[in-house]
Amino acid sequence: MMMMMMTTALLLFCLLSSTSALRSGTTRLCSVNQQSEEMTLPLRRVLVTGANQGIGLALAKQLVADHGCHVYLGSRSAEKGNKVLEEEFEAGDSVELLQIDVSSDESVEAAASDLSARLGDEKLYAIVNNAGIISNEQNRASAVLNTNTRGPIRVVDNFIKHLQPKGRIVNLGSGGGPNFVSTLRGKDKERYMNAMSNDEIEAEIAKIEAMGEGFSSYQGSKALVTCYTMALAEKYPELMCSSVSPGWILTNMTRGMGASKSPEEGTVSLRKCLFENLPKSGWYWGSDGLRSPLHYMRNPGEPEYVEEESMTFAN
Ligand SMILES: NC(=O)c1ccc[n+]([C@@H]2O[C@H](COP(=O)([O-])OP(=O)(O)OC[C@H]3O[C@@H](n4cnc5c(N)ncnc54)[C@H](OP(=O)(O)O)[C@@H]3O)[C@@H](O)[C@H]2O)c1
Repeated sequence: MMMMMMTTALLLFCLLSSTSALRSGTTRLCSVNQQSEEMTLPLRRVLVTGANQGIGLALAKQLVADHGCHVYLGSRSAEKGNKVLEEEFEAGDSVELLQIDVSSDESVEAAASDLSARLGDEKLYAIVNNAGIISNEQNRASAVLNTNTRGPIRVVDNFIKHLQPKGRIVNLGSGGGPNFVSTLRGKDKERYMNAMSNDEIEAEIAKIEAMGEGFSSYQGSKALVTCYTMALAEKYPELMCSSVSPGWILTNMTRGMGASKSPEEGTVSLRKCLFENLPKSGWYWGSDGLRSPLHYMRNPGEPEYVEEESMTFAN
C-alpha cells in the first residue's frame, strides 16, 4: 500500500514538472523505482491543418492538454490563427501557429520550409489533414476538390520529409465518401475500392467536376481522400496512414444542417488513428473508431466492417 502511494506521488510529481520539459522539446518520464533518474522521449510534434476552428481546433486542444503533444496549428489566416492562440490556449501551452493554405502550392511549400527552419533536427510525429470546405454558393466544385483532395496530397508531398520514419498520417474523410461510392456501378465503383495514383485521382477529379455543382463534389472529394490514403499506405509501408470520418458534427461547416455533436466529440477516430496500435495502414475508420466500408455508409452503433473475400459490382 505504502509502495503504491509513493509511486502515485512520484508520478504526480512527474506530471506537474513536465511543462518546462514540453517547452524544451522533450517529454520527461520518471522511473518508478524511486530513483530520480529520468528517461527522455521525443516530444510528439503534430501538424493539424485547418485548426483555427471546428474539429481541427478541438483536436489541437486535446493533443496539447491530454496527449502531451506539441501542435503546429495550421491556419490559412495568420490573423485568425493568432486570435485562436490567444483566446483558446494558455500562455506556455505547447502550440504554435503555422500559416498554411492547403489550396495553394506556394503557400504549402512556404509553410514546409518555415517548419523546416523551426524543426531543426526534430521530426513530426504526425500530420493531420483536416482543412476542408463544403460545396455551396461560394465554394464551387473545383475549389472543393482542390482543397479537400489535392490539399492533403500537397501537404504530404511537401511535409513527408519532416515526418519521422514510423510517423502517422490521418486524413479527414467523411461519411459522404461511402455515400458517393454507393451511387457508382461496375468498374466505376471498383476503382473507388482501391488505391489510386495521383494521375488516377486527377482523372476522377475531372469527372466529378464535369458532374456540375453540388454536394457530389464534396462527397467525391472525400471518397478520393480515402483512395489516396490507400495509396499512401502502399507507398510508405513503414508509416501508419488512415482516413477517418469525424461524424456529423456541429461546426461552421454544418451550421443549420441539423448536426448537434460538439467538435470535441468529432475526434474519436482521429485520436485512435494517431495513438493506438492499428491492425493495418490504409483503412477508413468510422466516427466511433470502428473500421468502416468504402462502398456504403456504416452508422455508429452498427457492427464493425469486415472486408469481404471478393467483391464484384454490377454494371
Ligand atoms: N462537421 C462535420 O460534420 C464533418 C463531417 C465529415 C467530415 N468533416 C471534415 O472535417 C474537417 C473539418 O471540418 P469542420 O467541420 O471542423 O469545418 P470548419 O469548422 O468549417 O473548419 C474547417 C477548417 O478548414 C480550414 N480551411 C478551409 N480551407 C482551407 C484552406 N484552403 N487552407 C487551410 N485551411 C483551410 C478552415 O479555415 P478558415 O477558418 O480560414 O475558413 C477551418 O479552419 C473537414 O475536412 C470536413 O470536410 C466534417
